[in-house]
Formats: sequence, C-alpha cells, structure tokens
Amino acid sequence: MEQLLIRGQNRLSGNIDINGAKNAALAVLPAVLCAGEACIIDNLPAIDDIHCYIDVLTRLGCRAELVDTHALRVDPTGVGYTVADFDSAKKIRASYYVLGAMLGKFGKAAVALPGGCNFGSRPIDFHIKGFEALGAKVVIEHGIVYCQADELVGAPIYLDFASVGATINILLAAINARGQTVIENAAKEPHVVDVANFLNFIGADIRGAGTNVIRINGLDNGKIKMRGGEYTIIPDMIEAGTFMIAAAITGGDVCVKNIIPKHMHSVSAKLREMNCVVEEDEDSIRVRASELLSPVNVETQVYPGFPTDLQPQACALLSTVQGQSIVRETVFESRFQYVSELERMGARITVSGRQAVVLGVDNLTGADVSATDLRAGMSLITAGLAATGETRLSNINYVDRGYEDIAGRLNSLGADIERISVL
Ligand code: EPZ
Repeated sequence: MEQLLIRGQNRLSGNIDINGAKNAALAVLPAVLCAGEACIIDNLPAIDDIHCYIDVLTRLGCRAELVDTHALRVDPTGVGYTVADFDSAKKIRASYYVLGAMLGKFGKAAVALPGGCNFGSRPIDFHIKGFEALGAKVVIEHGIVYCQADELVGAPIYLDFASVGATINILLAAINARGQTVIENAAKEPHVVDVANFLNFIGADIRGAGTNVIRINGLDNGKIKMRGGEYTIIPDMIEAGTFMIAAAITGGDVCVKNIIPKHMHSVSAKLREMNCVVEEDEDSIRVRASELLSPVNVETQVYPGFPTDLQPQACALLSTVQGQSIVRETVFESRFQYVSELERMGARITVSGRQAVVLGVDNLTGADVSATDLRAGMSLITAGLAATGETRLSNINYVDRGYEDIAGRLNSLGADIERISVL
C-alpha cells in the first residue's frame, strides 16, 4: 500500500499545466461506442479511472490502444451486445454511460449498477426515467441494469434535478432515437458540452448543450452512419480549481495554464472575495494569496455555480482563515465525511446536514489521515500543504483515480510530498 507524506508550510509558486478533464473523458470514451469508425481521443488525463474505462471498452469489443500517455485510439466497429458486469465496469460509476450508448446503438444494454460513493446514495432513477421516456424497458436484476427497446422514439424529458450523468446518458441514447428528444432542466457543465460536441463531431445533431434545454434530432435508430475522427478533451476545471486553492492556502503565487478561464469564474470570484489577487489571461489564471485572507460563505451549485467537487478543498482552505465561514452543499445529500479527518489536523468545523460552519484556526497540524473518496483525499492534501509538520495520507488510490501524479506536480510548485510504500 502507498501513502503520501506531506511536509507542510511550503509556499507554492510557479506555473502548472492543467490536464484534460476527467469527467469529460469519462463521458467521451463511452460516446466513442456511438462512432461508425475509429476515433483518436487526445488530452486524456493519465489517471486510474481512464485506464479502467479503457478496459471496459476493450471488454465490450473495442480495439483500444494508447498512442501516447494522453491519447487513445479506439475502434468501436467490432462492438456487439455485451453484459458489462466485469470488474472494471463495477469499479467506476461512469460505466453507466455504456447503457445510453449501447441502448442507442443496439436497442439493448446491460451494465452492473455503480457502487455508491462515500457521500450519500447516488441513485440512477433520472437515467432510467429518461430511457423509459424514449421507449425502453428497464429492469434491475442481480445488481445489473438491463435496458431494452424495440425502437427508441424521441420524447420530451424533464429532469427533476440538472443531473450531469442523466443528461449525458440520455444524450447518448437519444442520438439514435427516431424523431426529436428535448431534455429540459439539463445539466450545463462544461463536460456535458464536451460530450455533445464530440457526438456532433461524429455525426449527431444536438442543439443547446450548455443551456438547460437540449434538443437532439435522432438518427432514426442508427439508419444514418456515424463517422470517426480525432477529438481533444477540454481542460479539467476541477483540477484547475484544486491548484488555485492550493496556491491560496499556502500563501502562494501560482499560474494554472491551458485552461478555459470562463469555466473557473465561480472559483475566481470566491478567491477574490477572500482577498486573493486573481488575474485571468486567455488560457491561464494566476492566483496570488494576500497575507490576510477573509472568511467567506460557499454554497455549491450546478454549473456555473461553485462546483461541488471543489467543496472539500474549499473547506480545507477556510479552516485556515481567521473568522467564521459557512459551507453549504446543495448538490449531494451528504458530502462532509472528510471533515472528521480534517478535525484530526486541528480544523474546527461543525457539520449539520448539508451545512458546515468553519471557524478558522491559526495553524493546522500534520496528522495521519485517510481519504474516503477522491475529493476528500484532495482536501486532506490541501490541508497538509499548509499544516505544520508531517501529514501522512492513506487510501491514496482514491486520489490516483482522479489526479495524475498529484505529488510530482505539486512538488514542481515547491511542495514537499513523498510517495511512500508501507506494508
Ligand atoms: C458527476 O456525477 C461527476 N462524476 C461528479 O464528480 C460530480 O460531483 C457530479 O457530476 C456533480 O457535478 C462524473 O462526471 C463521472 P449528478 P453524477 O447526476 O453524474 C442526484 C468527482 O469527484 N441524482 O449531477 O453522478 C445525485 O444523487 C465526481 O469527479 C439522483 O437523485 O452527478 C446527486 O445528489 C464526484 N438521481 C445529484 O443528483 C439520478 O438518477 C447530482 O448528481 C442521478 C443523480
């Protein structure tokens, strides 16, 4: 087993290139199943979840090979109906996108139900509601979701919540339906736009991605042949925000490069509210922390609001800011499990339901802590960067699922993090 040993109190400074977006890649890779020819997907992050998805595609019958660390060639033409109940499909939640892609392509699909996460139940009822609206029958047996449709017919679909996963999964099925599908209250995240752009690039007809109403003119159950081609994934806004917050908590001066600043507006605005100097350029943002940061209130929202995936890191930052800050989590039912680990480092946080009241302390102190999920792990690394002494983080497999070489890249900015093996 490996751990990260973080020696805190180093000020981060310098430039960091941001990788391709994990949550866009985890949607575009299954979307390749809808292509009619081979595709090359560029700017993939070299993270465990991506490697896991490559295994899912291979087991479904794709010929998939990395052409370099961040680019994958996938030929989906050999894919047939397969029950995706293998380990790699069970390991990642995003494997459920295979349902939409295969249902659209073959009229049937079966994928192992995703595991729950450490922040509340994560049902897929909105996904199922969407597939049923298109004419599919959906049953769950022995932990596998089975979908079947004699014919998919476009339909109006209203999402009770602007669910990223449900929006993307319905897109993947609806592109092959007969007639038009309209998704209302659709998610507007950049990775929803990215997968819609990719699908249009290979021949689909999707309008309005990025707004809360998306129209899909179906290809009439696959009668229109889709193309292939080379596509580049957008930059990862959550990774960019992670480094911006790391700059702030260490009193640093960091420039995140190869990003789309528009995606970062909620994070930039919050850091400015805390007295950081945040300067935007065409494809980069520089964050300089002031001596005295101000406490703020943070409420997570669907895009373009403050991202829930940066809520744990924001809490770590606010734990070091004198005064009271309030953090409200509106996207997930309970996403504060990591707080007990932050408290081991001296943080003073009171959680009640979807709200955390944070009282800043002069110094966090290094401790042995454990990641409970990907962003929780990143929160503890963020806290360790600022803490006095050493922080030893266990369960870093969670972090490796979503961040490429996080220790090496933080060290390139002046951090002191060592990856160690323990028995
Ligand atoms: C995606 O998860 C991301 N994962 C999550 O990132 C992210 O936190 C989330 O969107 C919100 O932005 C990937 O893209 C792989 P949702 P997803 O459907 O699609 C409820 C990370 O760390 N809901 O928008 O599962 C759900 O329980 C991960 O990178 C239903 O009730 O999120 C949640 O409360 C963590 N029924 C809310 O909606 C459904 O059918 C938002 O979920 C679907 C969702």
